[in-house]
Amino acid sequence: MAYDVAAVRAHFPALDEGAAHFDGPGGSQVPEPVAEAVAGALRAAVSNRGAETAAERRADGIVAEARQAMADLLGATPGGVVFGRSMTQLTYDMARALAKEWGPGDEVVVTTLDHDANIRPWVHAAEARGVTVRRADFDPESGELSVDTIAHLLGGRTRLVAVTAASNLLGSRPDISAIAERVHAAGALLYVDGVHLTPHSLVDVGRLGADFYACSPYKFLGPHLGVLAADPGLLESVHPDKLLPATDAVPERFELGTLPYELLAGTTAAVDFLAGLVPGEGTRRERLEGSMAALEEHERILLERLDAGLAEIAGVTFYGAASRARTPTTLFSVDHVRSADAYRFLAERGVNAPAGSFYALECSRRLGLGDTGAIRAGIAPYTDESDVDRLLKGVQELAGEAVRPEPA
Ligand SMILES: Cc1ncc(COP(=O)(O)O)c(C=O)c1O
Repeated sequence: MAYDVAAVRAHFPALDEGAAHFDGPGGSQVPEPVAEAVAGALRAAVSNRGAETAAERRADGIVAEARQAMADLLGATPGGVVFGRSMTQLTYDMARALAKEWGPGDEVVVTTLDHDANIRPWVHAAEARGVTVRRADFDPESGELSVDTIAHLLGGRTRLVAVTAASNLLGSRPDISAIAERVHAAGALLYVDGVHLTPHSLVDVGRLGADFYACSPYKFLGPHLGVLAADPGLLESVHPDKLLPATDAVPERFELGTLPYELLAGTTAAVDFLAGLVPGEGTRRERLEGSMAALEEHERILLERLDAGLAEIAGVTFYGAASRARTPTTLFSVDHVRSADAYRFLAERGVNAPAGSFYALECSRRLGLGDTGAIRAGIAPYTDESDVDRLLKGVQELAGEAVRPEPA
């Protein structure tokens, strides 16, 4: 079924403000049904979860529905879906909990391609337990992280490998299922950062081979929170610190304090919205298969237009445009222009394409971009051709001004 971007855009009140949004990798805009669901949960009678009152049952229902929605989106089990404030918070919590079983001589592997949220929690947990951290380095030319690079770092004492399913800076997508095979053969666990992949491609956590898969609904049209999916059996074996009266049941044992019910309602609405991006029939998972395939094609076509247009502009440099597989995210700079200035120049023309390292700090440094990074343009479900053309026009003007000789 063809993707009707005009029909999709009509659901996003934020687009009425007129900007062309290439800032989706930082956080996507929100469609009306998601805002309605959040407001609806706040307007309705909701109290702590329970079975006695309608308000308790509503809270319980919201949680159950959100777990099921995320399970449908990720090909996961509802009982293994954990909610938290953010992916960063969930990863820190899980790193601390897993590290209780680690000791000197053990090893963890992180990568230089990752967002810091999938590096620092493991580094800090390792430091606390005397565990050695090994770093898998990506190839700065291609932006790719090879399976072999990770495989070479594995040994009998490797406890966990943390790797991104897609780089939020370059878009490159390591071959997670091949990595999972090698990691599991070494007897280690695989923690996958799916924050940047989930908005662009339908994930099947089991097929990927991820033991833990973390993502953030605010990157895929939902509200600001984080999600961690794992096999409930595996979660049973992990014992985080928790309050004495709080339940020890899985997955609740990992959810500290009261859940944000309104944001969970919004998350369910976001998954439903994604499932309805193109008309379809069947279960929600089946509809997600159709709509995410259509979205992927829509985003691929726009990425080609963007990359081809940028390539024609003299003075544009691309970074690590991976050939193996890539999300619709492009990192570039304009010769003689500081990226922060380019960001401002574009913003003044209603084009939101921020510059930075976007917390993929080790990645940015490895690319030779230091801590300031470059301009990142990400395509989202609501991006259309005219957005791309506005960005290209802005970059063209900028590059033209940059090479114009100073008046005598
Ligand atoms: C790839 C990636 N991982 C992790 C994060 C952190 O997510 P959160 O804000 O939910 O902690 C981000 C946020 O930009 C990201 O892009």
